Amino acid sequence: MPVIVTASSKGGAGKSTLTLVLAQALDAMGATVTIIDADPNRPLIRWRGGKSVSGVQVVGDVTESSIIRNIRDESARRQFVLVDLEGTANRLVSRAITQADLVLIPLQASALDSNEASRAVGLIREEEETLDGRVIPFRIIMTRTNPLITTKIESGIYRALEQAGLPLMKTRLHERQAFKAIFVRRAALSELDSSVNGLPAAIENADRLAAEVVDLITDKPQRTEKIEAAHA
Ligand SMILES: Nc1ncnc2c1ncn2[C@@H]1O[C@H](COP(=O)(O)OP(=O)(O)O)[C@@H](O)[C@H]1O
Ligand SMILES: [Mg+2]
Repeated sequence: MPVIVTASSKGGAGKSTLTLVLAQALDAMGATVTIIDADPNRPLIRWRGGKSVSGVQVVGDVTESSIIRNIRDESARRQFVLVDLEGTANRLVSRAITQADLVLIPLQASALDSNEASRAVGLIREEEETLDGRVIPFRIIMTRTNPLITTKIESGIYRALEQAGLPLMKTRLHERQAFKAIFVRRAALSELDSSVNGLPAAIENADRLAAEVVDLITDKPQRTEKIEAAHA
């Protein structure tokens, strides 16, 4: 079943937040979801160690030698496999990308970050070259956006991405206290108490994200075979 990898060439771009929010929204839709936490800092393993009764499973202890097997094993059992990577380019990251049905590249609306997006896209294109022509679908997603206004910097980034022909998700992941609180409290969005600012809007944002991802993935023909070349 579909493998969704979040990647960026930089820490702090919002990968882990995006992964967990998306996983929870897919779980809330009734899907079975595993996150492979491939970041040595293990933010999602830590999340799973809390009291949440969320159905999202988290697998850790992955290495560059095991990552492809881990992804295949999980995708045979679960409806969605999400892979959270660390923010540096290395062999584990490359291998995970070769297995993706969709790579999501989070981007914060700052001038610096648009270069980061090009770098992450470059990484995907390099992996495609190792894959005998298989295309790895990807989308850039704006994160930590202000739900009320689109800043000038953000609009500038949209234009730059468009000119560069880089595809952007319609849904943005807004800056929300709830998206931090799920990590602090090691909870699901639905388990947060209503005192968390903007919780319903955050849940709605998460649901919209999941719906767009499901749409994207079901539009695409299922990947044919997963790539032996990745073991090279
Ligand atoms: N949509 C968001 N709303 C609020 N805070 C966010 C959001 N996305 C990321 N953050 C915060 O930004 C920081 C970096 O995010 P994180 O997901 O850990 O990035 P990465 O995994 O790329 O290093 C964290 O403190 C996180 O809480
Ligand atoms: Mg992270």
